[in-house]
Amino acid sequence: MTDSYDAVYTRSLNGPENFWAEAAQAVHWDKNWDRVLDDSRPPFYRWFPGGLLNTCYNALDRHIESGRADQPALIYDSPVTQTVQTFTYRELLDQVARFAGVLSAQGVQKGDRVIIYMPMVPEAIVAMLACARIGAIHSVVFGGFASHELANRITDARPKVIVSASCGIEVGRIIPYKPLLDKAIELAAVKPERCIIVQRPQEKATMVGGRDLDWSEEVARAKPVDCVSVTATDPLYILYTSGTTGMPKGIVRDNGGHLVALKWSMQHIYGVEPGEVYWAASDVGWVVGHSYIVYAPLFNGNTTVLYEGKPVGTPDAGAFWRVVSQHGVKVLFTAPTAFRAIKREDPNGECMRKYDLSGFRTLFLAGERCDPDTLLWAQKQLEVPVIDHWWQTESGWPIGANCVGLGMLPVKPGSCTKPVPGYDVRVLGDDGTELPPGQMGSVVVKLPLPPGCLPTLWNNDEGYRKAYLARFPGYYLTGDAGYKDEDGYLSVMTRTDDIINVASHRLSTGALEEVLASHPDVAECAVLGVADAIKGEIPLGLIVLKAGVRRSHGEIVSEVVRMVRERIGAVASFKIATVVKRLPKTRSGKILRGTIKMIADGVDYQVPPTIDDPLILDEITADLSTLGYPTGSARSSV
Ligand code: COA
Ligand code: AMP
Repeated sequence: MTDSYDAVYTRSLNGPENFWAEAAQAVHWDKNWDRVLDDSRPPFYRWFPGGLLNTCYNALDRHIESGRADQPALIYDSPVTQTVQTFTYRELLDQVARFAGVLSAQGVQKGDRVIIYMPMVPEAIVAMLACARIGAIHSVVFGGFASHELANRITDARPKVIVSASCGIEVGRIIPYKPLLDKAIELAAVKPERCIIVQRPQEKATMVGGRDLDWSEEVARAKPVDCVSVTATDPLYILYTSGTTGMPKGIVRDNGGHLVALKWSMQHIYGVEPGEVYWAASDVGWVVGHSYIVYAPLFNGNTTVLYEGKPVGTPDAGAFWRVVSQHGVKVLFTAPTAFRAIKREDPNGECMRKYDLSGFRTLFLAGERCDPDTLLWAQKQLEVPVIDHWWQTESGWPIGANCVGLGMLPVKPGSCTKPVPGYDVRVLGDDGTELPPGQMGSVVVKLPLPPGCLPTLWNNDEGYRKAYLARFPGYYLTGDAGYKDEDGYLSVMTRTDDIINVASHRLSTGALEEVLASHPDVAECAVLGVADAIKGEIPLGLIVLKAGVRRSHGEIVSEVVRMVRERIGAVASFKIATVVKRLPKTRSGKILRGTIKMIADGVDYQVPPTIDDPLILDEITADLSTLGYPTGSARSSV
């Protein structure tokens, strides 16, 4: 009989060292840690210092040694290429050990960085695990990012090798990756020594002599290599995520805490037993993909699914249910936006009912707050529990969830339920005092964060301190606002910074504004997230032209849209911008983005008392109404 959530949660906060030392027994250590928690340098904390282990060994080798060699480890299901391919644990290990041999032959050693810029193909997972095997630090860059974004990451991570593929495949179209990679290397301030390219049959990449190597040729002549012991506190990976400027933040994940936390999460949060099929319908370029396509299911001896397709259009809104029934998926994890897309095309669940979903047990959603309508719809159609849970790239695993493995608590739509064991979540007011139930404030986590969360930013301890630890000393600032109710249920409602969430992809409006502002005709601009029925939010750009610019507004708008696509990538979904005469500002010159958003979303708003010129709001209302926005109306000023 498992302990109840309340008992486990209390234990995790009262004795974190005992709690995590116990959880750490479930993984293989080459040498035990010296201390469970090093708290000698607050606000920086390290878990399991002195411990030696290998992440890849825990994901693959150990399961082969304990009898799972012939169990499928990975099912690659790609409707866009009409492929289904299964790799047993033995087969996946063979591929990984060989590719680790390829990297070693290129001189990649423990601590070296390897950037992985790949579509959703098995080689992406093989490359990640191969890095882990030899102690190299991988940094996966989402395929939807354009050259400039990739270049930023190359410059910051300074990789010895980049692993990529000739192309990605979106619905009905091929996206050549290699030209994007070549351009990124040209733009980056530092160059990799080698690129290793998977040549996909759909598109052959042109190779650069002396730099580029063909994945298959190298693997064919490679010798498999064994695991290297690393310390628990050595970095496993860097994952860049949007910050408040154009320069993304390099979130560092260590080896030991990550392994312990993720292994613990599979049984206690997701309620998944070793041997079961678990599917996270995300992308390896995002944190959900790192943690729950690759690492956690393999640590737990599960079969994981790598899906190269969309929730709709590959070929229809039954795509997810085909995968669930064909592969016997027990637990699915995806984003609410995927469900909104499915709901729009299959409102009555007819596509769903074509498939046998009798073995399907639980649906988990994350990436954005799940609106109650979508949650209730999914629950009604699927007749299984639908769990909204909250986390971020920084945490690497859920902060707030309904821990199904500890006995499911009643679901309250709109809430991510309760803090996960290990996380002391508080809601603070601006002055740092804890707010009573029902009052919205900054959601923070009392330090130390549990294992698995970021220990710092890549090469930037000071940046970590400033961005996350300085606002409320002793607490980690999540950047989210929300409240707890009388029962301790947590609702995470919105960001407190300028990050927006587009189809569960995290984007910085500051980064988008930097692109718009670099247009020669633009004097100033604002980008904000406006409500969208499928993607949750989409970015909207408002631009003010320099005096004397007489060019067509339509042309300038097309140019800025193209610039965002080229500089940030298609994933930004930046398609709407308009020229305005002036932007509403406070008397101190701060652009009133929140008020513009309320006008665009059709929400009634109060005219901010600090506004410089209230008449500008009328102009903006007229401009947005021309664009077809609902436009909220002003109440009196306060
Ligand atoms: N490589 C290249 N381009 C990519 C890409 C990739 N890996 N992923 C997305 N893109 C492109 C898309 O083709 C699209 O281009 P377009 O503007 O030319 O049409 C653009 O980036 C935006 O993509 P996306 O946000 O995926 O929108 P969509 O309209 O193609 O699909 C959804 C909408 C809701 C179906 C889709 O966003 C979705 O499945 N979201 C789930 C997100 C998710 O799982 N997030 C992980 C967190 S759990
Ligand atoms: P990312 O780092 O890309 O995973 O984005 C993390 C951010 O997405 C969080 O800080 C939240 O703003 C938002 N988010 C993710 N999941 C949820 C959720 N279940 N409820 C509310 N917000 C969420």
